Amino acid sequence: MRSRSDTAEKGGSAMLAALEDVMESHGAELDKEKIHARHDNAGRVMTRCPVIPVLVIPDLSLARPIAQALVAGGLTTLEVTLRTECALEAIAEMSKVEGAHVGAGTVLNGDDLARSVEAGARFIVSPGLTPEVASAAQRHDVPLLPGIANAGDIMRGLDLGLSRFKFFPAMANGGLPALKALASVFGQVKFCPTGGISEENAAEWLAQPAVSCVGGSWLTGGAFDAEAIQSRAQRASQLKG
Ligand code: 3PG
Repeated sequence: MRSRSDTAEKGGSAMLAALEDVMESHGAELDKEKIHARHDNAGRVMTRCPVIPVLVIPDLSLARPIAQALVAGGLTTLEVTLRTECALEAIAEMSKVEGAHVGAGTVLNGDDLARSVEAGARFIVSPGLTPEVASAAQRHDVPLLPGIANAGDIMRGLDLGLSRFKFFPAMANGGLPALKALASVFGQVKFCPTGGISEENAAEWLAQPAVSCVGGSWLTGGAFDAEAIQSRAQRASQLKG
């Protein structure tokens, strides 16, 4: 195994060295090739559908009906945020819906990530990027879409071998002008803007070549209404990704 100083010297990356430290503390070896392979998988998570519904499930009994309505409308990549008591059980329930590809969102640390994978999450979304979450994603061999908000975040992600990111919170961070400016510098990066994206503005974001998909909570707003969710999903699934 390379020493930390060796890594830092060769890669010029404190973040990479930090990642190696975290992984060493877990008895794991840094495997950049595997990280690179995984961001291809993260790329596939982002290209399956133009919109990833960001789901806050307040009541477990709604998990399956919501997933069924979204999948019936053509949205099959579903992000269940770890913001409610029943989120992990909701991931397990939704995963039983045929065609659903369920991941966990609002994953803040390695423990969140491990619990999500155990519940059946097939991808991980995080509001930010930390070495701990990145190394946990590698250990569990699960695609990771970490949040980035600026050039420094992207550079730290690139140092970790990642190139697929959630741009978050997209509108509050400067909206399309900010995305375009970042995309012009980081040609190898693809984004999933999330935060302030709506049915009205999604197409404009998706028209950007650097945008593979968008995330948003608009699909399931208000009281549960399967028909409304399905028709919103239908319209969203027809957007050009
Ligand atoms: C979130 O994590 O809640 C997402 O940013 C969703 O944001 P939205 O409610 O603006 O779609």
